[in-house]
Amino acid sequence: MSLAKLQVSNISKTFTTKKNRTEVLQNISFTVGSREVVCLIGPSGCGKSTLFNVISGLDQPSIGTVEHTGRLAMMFQDPALLPWLTVEKNVGFGMNRQQYSSQAINQAVQRYLKIVALEQFGQAYPHELSGGMKQRAALARTLIIEPNIILMDEPFSALDAQTRERLQQFVQTLLHDYPVSIVFVTHDVREAVVLGDRVLVLTKRPAHIRNEYIIDLPRPRRSFDPNLDSYVRSITEQLQAETLLYS
Ligand SMILES: Nc1ncnc2c1ncn2[C@@H]1O[C@H](COP(=O)(O)OP(=O)(O)OP(=O)(O)O)[C@@H](O)[C@H]1O
Ligand SMILES: [Mg+2]
Repeated sequence: MSLAKLQVSNISKTFTTKKNRTEVLQNISFTVGSREVVCLIGPSGCGKSTLFNVISGLDQPSIGTVEHTGRLAMMFQDPALLPWLTVEKNVGFGMNRQQYSSQAINQAVQRYLKIVALEQFGQAYPHELSGGMKQRAALARTLIIEPNIILMDEPFSALDAQTRERLQQFVQTLLHDYPVSIVFVTHDVREAVVLGDRVLVLTKRPAHIRNEYIIDLPRPRRSFDPNLDSYVRSITEQLQAETLLYS
């Protein structure tokens, strides 16, 4: 196992207001190695986005620690491009103008636009792009800051099946070419099996890890590959058992 890039240790999180106490995360521990993809799947509302907020430091855990080496970035379902800026300006937005010359920024922008196959669309505005192109632009904007770890919270769930499949292929190419570790939240079991080196199945709230699956299949994987089926079946059964519990 490669060196851990991210170590999540005994994380619990409870939200307290004057009236309510909501226990959302319960003793969650896992590691993510260098160039590893860990997919998280679990019932809606179980606490996945809360876990990402804690990992990224946007929120504090009630108990536990998060350690990571290198730069960490987040990507969401909504690409959140700024509509008044061109694709180029959006992609370069996170690069510090005090630290980098405009020439250096422009070079990096062109490089990452090429990586996400949008080099023809630098001058376009977000409303001129399809959903998949917007999400690729958001990915370029994330990659340009050279993160070592990317937390992806259902980044492809708003896209049609064909575009999603293309982006799944794209992420696998990226893993091959680029030293990045990914934690990926999805509701789509097949997507988790295509992308994950490991899949962690979470319980209902308060979320804890119910099962861990090691997906021992060669890459690149395609979603229609029948070798995925036994994993998909088994994970789906686990998830269904979890959502049926107490409901
Ligand atoms: N700031 C907050 N204060 C109080 N409760 C919160 C807060 N943030 C989240 N919660 C609660 O934590 C629970 C988990 O929410 P979260 O968004 O983490 O779930 P999720 O697993 O990402 O759901 P989904 O799959 O629908 O995206 C929910 O019951 C939510 O109401
Ligand atoms: Mg969520």
